[in-house]
Amino acid sequence: MNFDKENYTVEELTLENETIRFRAYRNLIYVDKPVNEAYQQMNIFVPEIYFEGGSMNGYTLKTVPVFMPNSVGGYMPGETEEPGYTRFGQKKLNSVFRALQHGYMVASPAIRGRSQRSDEGIFTGKAPACIVDYKAAVRYLHYFADELPGDENKIITNGTSAGGALSSLMGAAGNHPDYEPYLEGIGAAKAGDDIFAASCYCPITNLDHGDMAYEWQFSGVNEYHRMNMKMDEGGRPFFTPEDGVMTDVQIGASQAEASMFPAYLNSLGLTDENGRTLKLDAQGEGSFKEYVKAVVLASAQRALSEGMDVSDKKWLTVENGKAAAMDFSEYVKDITRMKTAPAFDSLDMDSPENNLFGTENTDYCHFTGYSMENSTCNGTMADEKIVRMLNPMNYIDDPKARTAKYWRIRHGECDRDTSLAISAILAVKLKSAGCSVDYHAPWNTPHSGDYDLDELFAWIDSICK
Ligand code: DHB
Repeated sequence: MNFDKENYTVEELTLENETIRFRAYRNLIYVDKPVNEAYQQMNIFVPEIYFEGGSMNGYTLKTVPVFMPNSVGGYMPGETEEPGYTRFGQKKLNSVFRALQHGYMVASPAIRGRSQRSDEGIFTGKAPACIVDYKAAVRYLHYFADELPGDENKIITNGTSAGGALSSLMGAAGNHPDYEPYLEGIGAAKAGDDIFAASCYCPITNLDHGDMAYEWQFSGVNEYHRMNMKMDEGGRPFFTPEDGVMTDVQIGASQAEASMFPAYLNSLGLTDENGRTLKLDAQGEGSFKEYVKAVVLASAQRALSEGMDVSDKKWLTVENGKAAAMDFSEYVKDITRMKTAPAFDSLDMDSPENNLFGTENTDYCHFTGYSMENSTCNGTMADEKIVRMLNPMNYIDDPKARTAKYWRIRHGECDRDTSLAISAILAVKLKSAGCSVDYHAPWNTPHSGDYDLDELFAWIDSICK
């Protein structure tokens, strides 16, 4: 691990009639004892104008914030990124290109993921590798801050889905000692891993309570609609739709999970912005449900104010141009169920999350009591401490963690990959802890990210200046 500030290239890139000129430092190994070098390195890009004494948006070589997106999806390995088009094959400029164009310094780390193994067959990317690597990359930036361009006290992480979950963990659990043995194990730099701000798109987080939250929202809807990913002969992913009805066992799991959610929610002791207690009764009704409905109504209201036509949403009542009321169960039917119950800790352990919580020698584990007890495959349980380390909720009011002050959370209004309750709980808990949280559920938006980079960058500028 080192940083040689003379080892760079100056490059110019024109895409979609937009040109950026930047200095690139590539393949920086961010730990001393890498387990997987290709996935424990990062690229750093800096607008070249700063080296010529220039400024952009009021930023200079030493004051420019560090935008730090991760490319993790599905808790799979995430690669370092280049300025260019998005990974999903659309002709859309990616966040690295757009951030450079806006004037930010960009640090793009690779991160290990759940599918990786060593030559000896040991799994090397199981939890907590993903969060440990992201932290190690931040430590590198802090450690070399004096030699690096940019303001390393202004690191903003960004990610989508599993990557959004990692960004939320980065924001919540800065410097927490739980991760220390793992960071030492890979020879991470002796520096802090706290960040300034976290941007999280549809975070698939709070995994150990995701099943109950999902059923609190979707229980009663037994049909599911999902896309299954398969690989073609060339190893390229392709998707086929699957529509089905849950089995009796799955419906039983749905009811059991739904009935567990109120006790969990009430145990959090949440209050809204006005100090009102957020609770649920045994039927899952109460002030917390009203809060989630208010999130959806705020989404509709913003859509209305932008002149969108929302009249196809029969569950929504609009009065005098105001989103006045909604029928929650009709809304849930309309957006449809994607996952069968339990949504994350699958009884036959075939979910991405079961795979995430595997160990060095076990590819899949359970991580909730319910699925462990009702396992249909004689599965074993993940280490409780590791499950804990993947959940930002555990660190927000822990005095040993340095939780970021600034948060931007976006969770699409019709996202079905996890319950809207999950992001709502995260946002409310952060606000109660004194964080500044910009939380919104964009209208008619499915599970996705980086769709509003202009607004994201405006938010970053507002908190950095
Ligand atoms: C992602 C999506 C999921 O539905 C999930 O369970 C985990 C990860 C993702 O897109 O990253």
